[in-house]
Amino acid sequence: MTDQAPAPYAGPKRILSGIQASGALHLGNYLGALKRFVDIQDEKPFIFVADMHAITVWQDPAVLAAQTREIAAAYIAAGLDPKKATIFPQSAVPAHAELAWIFNCVARLGWLDRMTQFKEKSGKHKERSSVGLYTYPVLQAADILLYKATHVPVGEDQKQHLELTRDIAQKFNNDFNAPGFFPVTEPVIEGPATRVMSLRDGSAKMSKSDPSDASRINLMDDADAIANKIRRAKTDPEPLPETLEGLAGRPEAKNLVDIYAALSGQTKDQVIAEFGGKGFGTFKPALAELAVEKMSPIGARMRELMADPAQIDAVLKDGAERARAIADPVVAETKKLVGFLQL
Ligand code: TYM
Repeated sequence: MTDQAPAPYAGPKRILSGIQASGALHLGNYLGALKRFVDIQDEKPFIFVADMHAITVWQDPAVLAAQTREIAAAYIAAGLDPKKATIFPQSAVPAHAELAWIFNCVARLGWLDRMTQFKEKSGKHKERSSVGLYTYPVLQAADILLYKATHVPVGEDQKQHLELTRDIAQKFNNDFNAPGFFPVTEPVIEGPATRVMSLRDGSAKMSKSDPSDASRINLMDDADAIANKIRRAKTDPEPLPETLEGLAGRPEAKNLVDIYAALSGQTKDQVIAEFGGKGFGTFKPALAELAVEKMSPIGARMRELMADPAQIDAVLKDGAERARAIADPVVAETKKLVGFLQL
C-alpha cells in the first residue's frame, strides 16, 4: 500500500460533447450546449450525434435517420466548422459499443440505481423500460473516455452522468492497474444559461418531452413563432429588479434574464443594469427581438442544409473516419489491459 495519489492523466486537453438524436432541438440545447461548442471550436472538439442513446426508447427507423441528420445540420447551422470540429454519428464508430460493454462490467449496479434521469424517464414503468435506458450513462462514459476527453461542455442536467464517468475512469484505472490511463474528465457547466427553464413554468426544465410546444423555442421555429412564444411566456406582475439578488423567488423572470444574457453574450449583471426597474412590457419585446435575430437564421440555414442530405452525410462520414482514427487505438489498448487476446 502506498498513500501516494494515483498518477495524474498526462495526455492532451480534448473537448468532446454530444446531443441525442431524439426530438427537435430547443433553446435549452442551444444555450446549454450547441452555442458553447461553437464558442470553443478553435480547440478542435469532438461533437457527435448520440443516435445509440436515442434508441434506448423506441424510435421509428426512418425518423431516427432524419433526426440524426437534423442534429448534424443544427451543428453546422449554428456555426460549427466541420474542419475544426469532428462531427460524426456515434453509431459509425463501433468502438463506442465495445468500450460500453467493458464499462458495463466496471460500473456498479448501485451507481446506476442512483441515476435520477433513469428514474424520470422510466417513471412508473421500470419493468417495461429497455435495459439500454438503464445502462445509458455507461454508454455516455464510453463516448467520453474512448477519446480520452478531458473536458465535456454540457448543461446542468448532465452533471450526474459526468460524475459517473469520473467514477468509471477511476475504477478502471485502479482495477486494471493502469494509473492515468483514462483521464478523470471535467464537466464544463458554465455560462448564464446552463439550465434553461420552460417558458410556461419556471420550475420545470425546458425540454423536448414537454407536451406544450409553447414551453420551448425550437431551433426550427420561424421568427413569428419565436416572438409569439416570448410574448406569451409566463411572468409575474413586478418590474425587473435593480439587482440580481432581487430575482430570488422569481423563477420565470430569472429564466428570461438568463436567456437574454446568454443570447446577447452579456453577463446577467449587465442585463439587470440595462433593464432593472423596467416592466415586462419593455423587456419582452427586447428579448423577442434578440431571440429572433440570433435564432431564426439558424433555423433557416438548417432547412437549407437538410434539403441536401448527401452533403450532411459527407460531413458525417469524414468525421466518423477522423473519430475512428482516435477511438480504435484507445479501445485496442483497453482490450489489452482487460486481458483479451490480441489476435
Ligand atoms: P441531450 O440530448 O438531452 O441534451 C443535449 C445538451 O443540451 C443540454 N440541455 C440543456 N441545457 C440547458 N437548459 C436546458 N433546458 C437543457 N436541456 C438540454 C444538455 O445538458 C446537453 O448538454 N446524454 C446526453 C447526450 C450525450 C452526451 C454524451 C453528452 C451522450 N453521450 C457524452 C456529453 C458527452 C443527452 O441526452 O443530452
